[in-house]
Amino acid sequence: MTLQESTYKTDALIAEDIDAYLEAHQHKTMLRFITCGSVDDGKSTLIGRLLYDSKMIFEDQLAALESDSKRSGTQGEEIDFALLVDGLAAEREQGITIDVAYRFFATEKRKFIVADTPGHEQYTRNMVTGASTADLAVILIDARKGVLVQTRRHSYLVQLLGIRHVVLAVNKMDLVGYDQATFDRIVAEYRAFAESIGITEFTAIPISGFKGDNITTSSENTPWYDGPALLPLLESVEVEQSRELASPFRMQVQWVNRPNLDFRGFAGMIASGQVRPGDAVRVLPSGKTSSIARIVSLEGDRDLAVAGESVTLTLNDEIDCSRGQVIVAAQSPLEVADQFESTLVWMDEHALLPGRAYWLKIGTQTVSATVAEPKYEVNVNTLEHLACKTLDLNAIGVANITTDREIPFAPYEENRDLGGFILIDKITNHTVAAGMIHFALRRAQNIHWQATDIGREHHASMKHQKPAVLWLTGLSGSGKSTIANIVEKKLARMNRHTFLLDGDNVRHGLNKDLGFTEADRVENIRRVGEVAKLMTDAGLIVITAFISPFRSEREMVRGMMQPGEFVEVFVDTPLEVAETRDVKGLYAKARAGQLKNFTGIDSPYEHPEAPELRIDTTEMSPEEAADLIIARLIP
Ligand code: ADX
Repeated sequence: MTLQESTYKTDALIAEDIDAYLEAHQHKTMLRFITCGSVDDGKSTLIGRLLYDSKMIFEDQLAALESDSKRSGTQGEEIDFALLVDGLAAEREQGITIDVAYRFFATEKRKFIVADTPGHEQYTRNMVTGASTADLAVILIDARKGVLVQTRRHSYLVQLLGIRHVVLAVNKMDLVGYDQATFDRIVAEYRAFAESIGITEFTAIPISGFKGDNITTSSENTPWYDGPALLPLLESVEVEQSRELASPFRMQVQWVNRPNLDFRGFAGMIASGQVRPGDAVRVLPSGKTSSIARIVSLEGDRDLAVAGESVTLTLNDEIDCSRGQVIVAAQSPLEVADQFESTLVWMDEHALLPGRAYWLKIGTQTVSATVAEPKYEVNVNTLEHLACKTLDLNAIGVANITTDREIPFAPYEENRDLGGFILIDKITNHTVAAGMIHFALRRAQNIHWQATDIGREHHASMKHQKPAVLWLTGLSGSGKSTIANIVEKKLARMNRHTFLLDGDNVRHGLNKDLGFTEADRVENIRRVGEVAKLMTDAGLIVITAFISPFRSEREMVRGMMQPGEFVEVFVDTPLEVAETRDVKGLYAKARAGQLKNFTGIDSPYEHPEAPELRIDTTEMSPEEAADLIIARLIP
């Protein structure tokens, strides 16, 4: 087989091969690494060379696996081959196509998973996906070209993602006559840059992927180089996670195993430290304490379990503990907070919308979170900080994040599992960002909810009514304001206490700083939601008339209210009809290009999927519409 073939062979391993393979290799340690560089740097050749020279078990099936290769479901495959796809599979399920090829190979000493990511500028997200679980990064440099902008970009990401080991592979040495001066110059230049971003240690190797110099054995062509060849280095790099082992015990609960009333075990992977029966532990965020009763495994009870192992723990006390919570050493608990500063790598075509609620998944826990306007974006090529209002695809920035409840965490620098998270769009279910927590913001902790004696029930009962929010949504000119106005008049006649919040009016005061970009509309609705919430607390029936074009924000407001209080009324007027009416002349302006971001023209309207009420204004008068709404409110 040629080198090229072995590189791209992606056939699935067949079951008996896997068994044989695993038996031969299961006692070896595993190194996960990533190669960074562009096609021109000779990345594929290098990977092919590694696969080829490592003399794989299967002559005809060098185990070049794609993450989505067929799974035959054998026991062995479950144990080991899952490692190939975790991370990526999770991303795939979230609906992103990410171009990361995971290849699996082994030598006498060690097993390897190499994540191969495309080197193009726009593929930051691929690299983040490939790098987030890697122990080591091989940064390739073409000896003829030296340190390039992309070398800097890749190194920055490697550092950002907390990869501990960096190998600078200066490739194509054969094309520069194995010249030591060239190598030294590149290494010196790289060192200066690496130090500036906090990479303090790296190993530089002069190689030729094509000729095989310094790949498996030291090359005679570089007598001046006395360091290790690439493969021996990869085989000997320390992967025992000494830092994780030395840190206090932390385990995030993945699931609660409760086969019968006598057994309640908490299963998960130990993120750091070690644990023994009898150890005092604390469950976060509740803070309840207990001690370890047993460490249960398939092979029987154990006396000790350490970072990286998956175990089931039982406790000596019946305390509440569920999926997503973290069991920690009682003496050194994790921080718990609901506001953080974080770095975000944006991975979605749709830019960040500050203020929008996303799902934030950290380990096994999922909470709702909003991102504030970023403090800055990092230019990954120059590392400059740029002012910005949002983050576009592949942008990296720093922003504060607020979660809807407190979560236990560790800074990403200390622990990738407890400080790394992803953001998921609530409507599309896409993974939109990867994030790394820097530290908690203390602000929120000093503000407590002030209990007041006259509560919302009292306010409502004084008004003899049930508070509600009648949320009218629809295109500009659909008739929302007209209908809302009639509804309010009719309710007033029925002695109901109401308040009408109207888009145009609120934008004259409270929201006069907001325009019509997506981000501003998100903030517009967030504020209106908060005001409507206060008004329901005051016992009022609130009627709102806002385009409120996004499902996400309408759902967010729904979530802020008591169950049943939010009545979504879709004022359904086709665009053509609204445009023909054009009461304010705005459609004409928008069509003429004089008004940007106009809903229905060059800004989207996401119609409600299951509104409490849909009003077809082409079939009924505003009066009739108002009656329908009131009938829904007061049956
Ligand atoms: S929303 O999208 O943020 O909910 P809102 O209901 O507050 O919008 O304001 C919409 C009103 O602002 C419209 O009825 C219209 O009179 C006016 N307007 C001005 N520019 C625009 C625009 N680009 N898109 C939509 N409405 C606009």
